[in-house]
Amino acid sequence: MTRDPARFWNRIARKYAASPISDEATYERKLAESQALMRPDMTVIEFGCGTGSTAVRHAPHAAHYTGVDVSAAMLDYARAKGQDFPNLTFVEGTLETFQAPDDGADMILALSLLHLLDDPRAAIARIHGMLKPGGWFVSSTACMGDILPALRFVAPLGRAVGLLPPLSFFTEAQLAGWIEAEGFRITTRWRPEGKSAASFLIARRPDQAP
Ligand SMILES: C[S@@+](CC[C@H](N)C(=O)[O-])C[C@H]1O[C@@H](n2cnc3c(N)ncnc32)[C@H](O)[C@@H]1O
Repeated sequence: MTRDPARFWNRIARKYAASPISDEATYERKLAESQALMRPDMTVIEFGCGTGSTAVRHAPHAAHYTGVDVSAAMLDYARAKGQDFPNLTFVEGTLETFQAPDDGADMILALSLLHLLDDPRAAIARIHGMLKPGGWFVSSTACMGDILPALRFVAPLGRAVGLLPPLSFFTEAQLAGWIEAEGFRITTRWRPEGKSAASFLIARRPDQAP
């Protein structure tokens, strides 16, 4: 089946924009742990930025903040929210094809994104390549292999009728393994209580090649 993520997200953008954050305390903790690593001179890229809610919280802590998303409809909401933030830019594009600045990014975020990608492992490699040495990779991922492994069998049907986006199935242990195999050092890893909760991982690209 051909993947067309924009189609699903364009269709549900309005509903997504109106949905409240499901767990405020966890969301605030993720913001705080990310911002603790940000510096005012940093270039930050957030892939799958959606409606821009996180971008407007983080942008004041960086020099340049770019939100990238495949869905034009999600970005309409993001641009409306971000208009008073001079250092914040939204770009329609994908993690798989985005051209990062030549000198690289200091931090890349992928929040609720990796499980939606065809090849999450290749995406991690791409993120590693876009980061400066010493740069940070912040991810929050619904690891479907832990949360709802049986969904794998009905996901194609859910997708065919438009109820589900394209999904990839992997566990948190697999995700952590891929991140480390790419050469990152994981510095933060936690998952809140609750069966459907996402795994939050922060990893650093070493300053120098080993
Ligand atoms: C579950 S939403 C998450 C939005 C936001 N990060 C959040 O946490 O609320 C996933 C977002 O990723 C975007 N997306 C899906 N595949 C993408 C890709 N390959 N590259 C960039 N964005 C993508 C979708 O359009 C959607 O806005």
